[in-house]
Amino acid sequence: MTGSRVIGTGHYVPPRVVTNFDVMKMMETSDEFIVQRTGVRRRRHVEPEVGASDLAASACRAAVENAGLRMEQIDFLIMNTITPDHADPGCAFFLQDKLGLAGIGVLDIRQQCAGLIYGMSVADHFIRAGTYRHVLIACSEVLSKRIDGSYDGRNISILLGDGAGAVVVGPADDRENGILSTILHADGSYAKSLYTAAPGSALGRDSHLTKDDIDAGRVHFRMEGKVVFEHGVAKMSDAALESLKLNGLSIDDIDVLVPHQANLRMLEAIIERVGIPQEKVFVNVEEYGNIASASLPIAFNEARQSGMITDGSLVLLVAFGSGFVWASALLRM
Ligand SMILES: CC(C)(COP(=O)(O)OP(=O)(O)OC[C@H]1O[C@@H](n2cnc3c(N)ncnc32)[C@H](O)[C@@H]1OP(=O)(O)O)[C@@H](O)C(=O)NCCC(=O)NCCS
Repeated sequence: MTGSRVIGTGHYVPPRVVTNFDVMKMMETSDEFIVQRTGVRRRRHVEPEVGASDLAASACRAAVENAGLRMEQIDFLIMNTITPDHADPGCAFFLQDKLGLAGIGVLDIRQQCAGLIYGMSVADHFIRAGTYRHVLIACSEVLSKRIDGSYDGRNISILLGDGAGAVVVGPADDRENGILSTILHADGSYAKSLYTAAPGSALGRDSHLTKDDIDAGRVHFRMEGKVVFEHGVAKMSDAALESLKLNGLSIDDIDVLVPHQANLRMLEAIIERVGIPQEKVFVNVEEYGNIASASLPIAFNEARQSGMITDGSLVLLVAFGSGFVWASALLRM
């Protein structure tokens, strides 16, 4: 086998639409602030009984169908989420059960918004090595259940939506098509610029969760907004340019750029920095907000469904998330 390629994509978003005016009922903010600073107008939120593996299962079924496979032809499952069904074991086990895939290997990864590209890189290497033939990667988030409307939490809470996306990677016939490269980076010195302190084992005491963690907001995301913004723009742009350099290409060769849908202002800054025409960039952040790891596979699938990505398109995926983690993938579809 000479390489790997994306053979199927799928996504699922819950039906309930939550506007900025609905968010204004949850916290002190305004439609004007959210639109001006983030570009988000709507997002989807689940009903109380829905968890991350439920959304992921729907996205996975759609991706496997799109690949023209039956579920039993999947021989390895990778899942990425920051909102797992339960604290442990990993969410991939719950998803595996829902998909009827008992017995195959599963792998939970925690690469936040870059989960799809890290997962695709793992899949690409397994397939190239001949270990597996069809690898399913699911990214799913129920961020609505992590909304904190307090003064310290509202800068990130306005962005958050729910949804899931999935990709099937399979063998490619030749080296000119398929996953041409994946580039992975991280810098843990910024891990606390966007993180949730509790529950945890590094809180300097003998209990991983206390009532005070809840009262003091340590169970919620805390983000240094400007640091995340600046690094997100710089790192996603760098990762895009690094992919081009590695493959001896220029930005003019790219048919479609699909970035992680962090925030519209960040996307505008990246478009300017990498010098790509806006019409070649797929954007849906106005509709769905930021869905962490699920944003990229949802955008990727919608770009295929809309006809923007077709067979033969040269596609660049880029992502950035907490950790910090950032990555890019170049694909010939
Ligand atoms: C979220 C973001 C728009 C917030 O803007 P910011 O200027 O960095 O926000 P800050 O937290 O520094 O706060 C700036 C001011 O806006 C206010 N503010 C923050 N969130 C607010 C909200 N939801 N509604 C109204 N005002 C808000 C703050 O209270 C502060 O006001 P003050 O100066 O009077 O205290 C911006 O940081 C951003 O886009 N960051 C990147 C976020 C992102 O994409 N994260 C996902 C990573 S993948």
